[in-house]
Amino acid sequence: MKVKGVPYRTIWVNDDGWSIGIIDQTKLPHAFVTTSLKTWEEAAHAIKAMIVRGAPLIGATGAYGLALAMRVDPSDAMLEKAYQVINETRPTAINLKWALDRVRNALHNRPPAERAAISYKIAAEICEEDVATCSAIGDHGLTLIEEAYEKTGRKRAVNVLTHCNAGWLGCVDWGTAIAPIYKAHDKGIPVHVWVDETRPRNQGASLTAWELNSHGVPHTVIVDNAGGHLMQHGKVDLCIVGTDRTTRDGDVCNKIGTYLKALAAKDNNVPFYVALPHSTIDWTIRDGVKEIPIEERAQEEVIVMSGRTATGEVVPVTITPEGSKAANYGFDVTPARLVTGLVTERGICAASEEGLIKLYPEFAK
Ligand code: MRU
Repeated sequence: MKVKGVPYRTIWVNDDGWSIGIIDQTKLPHAFVTTSLKTWEEAAHAIKAMIVRGAPLIGATGAYGLALAMRVDPSDAMLEKAYQVINETRPTAINLKWALDRVRNALHNRPPAERAAISYKIAAEICEEDVATCSAIGDHGLTLIEEAYEKTGRKRAVNVLTHCNAGWLGCVDWGTAIAPIYKAHDKGIPVHVWVDETRPRNQGASLTAWELNSHGVPHTVIVDNAGGHLMQHGKVDLCIVGTDRTTRDGDVCNKIGTYLKALAAKDNNVPFYVALPHSTIDWTIRDGVKEIPIEERAQEEVIVMSGRTATGEVVPVTITPEGSKAANYGFDVTPARLVTGLVTERGICAASEEGLIKLYPEFAK
């Protein structure tokens, strides 16, 4: 997507041919800053500190992290060390392991002298594929927004509610949940987005709002608890969210608070769609509540918020009494029964094993 007229992806190989360029997402929305990763440890840190975040993007960054490791030491020992450390940075999104496995498998039994080049090639493939995949998700999801527009009698904008950031910043380009919105907007279908702020890190208020603003898509930021009220009053036509891990049976695990939106959507007959690339499906598990590890992050993320003052400084402020503890669960699981459909790069399916296997027959047992 373009930032002030300049096309960007979220990750790229710099002109030196080896270091990796990224957007520092912790600086958004107040500053657009790019930075470089020169070591695999920096790649691991960028993922853990959420300088890059979003399931597909942490996968791509992990893959380039292995390439950076292989560049300095193409031994098996280094491969295993970098793999383990990077894989442990964030436990919930399966895309990270998927991407690391893809690089590691390609290096199996390959001579050390070839390993760096192979890793860079696979990482680049992962990125290219992610762009094509997200674009296809956008095309399939567009049909849902078109249908919703027809239901309004073409009389008003389609209102879509989304949670967290499943836009291009969370992927390599386009995004998952936001890709259909970009496609609809670009096609001239009036669309308005309710953006959940997404405490505690505010990916909605800081990142989704910034993206939509940059692209000129009408949107309104709402507090995380507003969605149910809007749905009760007919102000949401459909919800579209992303997922960090989708089980074989169609449960989806996404940013904390997603489940509550799905419950409210069910109670109000609002369609609740989840957009995902194939790399987000964990075919080895079925029950998301029991089997998906939920990341727990530092309590400071809840206790301290940062924002821009009237004089333009970005400062942290403490919002709780001294001595109060905070819990910071990063994700929750929305059971398949609450999901209207899964929007994938191969089409839209029911959130069930049967639905997924129709689109991905190669995973049938
Ligand atoms: O903690 P984050 O910001 O990495 O969480 C991101 C999400 O939950 C997204 O919705 C998800 O990765 C879907 S696709 C970008």
